[in-house]
Amino acid sequence: MFSRYRRDTQSQPVTITGIDQVPPAPPVNRAPVAQSRPSPKPKPARPADMAQPDASEKRKQRINHIKSEMHKRLLEDLNLAALEKAPEAEVRGEIAAITAESLSDFDIVLNQEERQQLNKDLYHEVMGLGPLEPLLADESINDILINGPKKIFIERKGKLELSDITFRDDRHLMRIIDKIVSAVGRRVDESNPYVDARLRDGSRFNAMVSPVAVDGALVSIRKFKKDKLSIPELVEFGAFSPEMALYLEAAVATRLNVIVSGGTGSGKTTTLNALSSFIGNTERVLTIEDTAELQLQQEHVGRMESRPANMEGKGAVTQRDCLRNALRMRPDRIIVGETRGEEVIDMLQAMNTGHDGSMTTIHANSARDGISRLENMVAMAGIEMPLRAVRSQIGSAVNLIVQVSRLQDGSRRMMSITEITGMEGEIITMQEVFRFERTGIEPDGTILGHFTGCGLRSHYSERFHRWGFDLPASIYDHASAR
Ligand SMILES: Nc1ncnc2c1ncn2[C@@H]1O[C@H](COP(=O)(O)OP(=O)(O)OP(=O)(O)O)[C@@H](O)[C@H]1O
Ligand SMILES: [Mg+2]
Repeated sequence: MFSRYRRDTQSQPVTITGIDQVPPAPPVNRAPVAQSRPSPKPKPARPADMAQPDASEKRKQRINHIKSEMHKRLLEDLNLAALEKAPEAEVRGEIAAITAESLSDFDIVLNQEERQQLNKDLYHEVMGLGPLEPLLADESINDILINGPKKIFIERKGKLELSDITFRDDRHLMRIIDKIVSAVGRRVDESNPYVDARLRDGSRFNAMVSPVAVDGALVSIRKFKKDKLSIPELVEFGAFSPEMALYLEAAVATRLNVIVSGGTGSGKTTTLNALSSFIGNTERVLTIEDTAELQLQQEHVGRMESRPANMEGKGAVTQRDCLRNALRMRPDRIIVGETRGEEVIDMLQAMNTGHDGSMTTIHANSARDGISRLENMVAMAGIEMPLRAVRSQIGSAVNLIVQVSRLQDGSRRMMSITEITGMEGEIITMQEVFRFERTGIEPDGTILGHFTGCGLRSHYSERFHRWGFDLPASIYDHASAR
């Protein structure tokens, strides 16, 4: 069968065949594959075989083998460049037709379900990211973590589990990695063994390949969620209490400078995104990120994404470059996805000089630790400033630190909301206004606890009042006193 999507390897006239007109398989140009063909003895699948776990496992392996052979043929036979522009239904039809044609070469009879699965898998191999496609399509998966071709872990509801999906071998995995990174004009190989990229659906992608990755390529994918968790959803999921939500609304709307602090995957970006919903629709907001993940709902949002250097080491645009430029773009607020380096200087300056209401995240384990991280970042940026001066910069720039954590049971919670209240001597003073109090643990590992005020009225109460946010004093009470 020939169609405009088949390679014209023998200069035969190309005719377009309808998808459903699948003629009996002609002998196509596949000599190399023929050598590895299975024995010609017909051996139809016997349902009795499938009843035994061993037999069904063998059948699965056999289908996998056939899939791999068919994939090779498809790559040989198909004109991939033409397929790129073809409508999806047509490509699926074409793949189904070639599969039907080639199946007669293997002594196996597939049931309808197996055949559909095979067509689907082959479509994903040819047009998409192979075994990753079903994981990317599964909305309930947050993270995909690959340790070599045979171990793909997925995170669902905060829990990591080993999936039953695998790559054929390291080459198969490398081919998919190459496909991802070449689509964004990057390369990954021995001399350049790690890469950060963004998938076409917005998911964050990082890969490290051998020899630095010892047991096969390591890949981490943070799935992009179109529907980011909103404040009401986070309250419903128990990430923080309605009282905390009320307080955070006042804090963001009255333009306090907020830092969301937390560990890896603790929900920092999600929290930052949800907090941004309290920003007024008339404000001009500029966002700066290494990988654009934030999805602000406001009308007036300018998004920037930093860029690493190219292969020649040129063309890098750092978060700091973006931030400096952003200051010339008349922003009302600046949001930096994660402050992790020299951009801290400009971030603190921006917060101190009229761009109040700015927000960012940092990687730290507590509010106090967050302050130390900021101090270290300033020191690492090579700024010669006495510690006291650095602290006073930080103390006057940052108003609020929101600490988020991923607990052992997989739940993500706001562990504390801490206000910076000023300086005493060399020390930055702070007060905790809300926290999560752990009370115990269930036999199944579920962590028990509740959110509570810490009994202290907000340092910013006066400001809230001036801006029209009169929060009931009872929200700050200890939970037992409410
Ligand atoms: N409270 C929550 N309840 C359920 N899922 C959550 C919650 N907060 C975040 N998530 C999910 O957890 C995953 C990680 O969240 P997020 O990207 O916000 O973490 P992060 O701290 O920014 O991670 P990183 O350090 O990698 O940047 C996301 O898939 C997100 O949808
Ligand atoms: Mg993040």
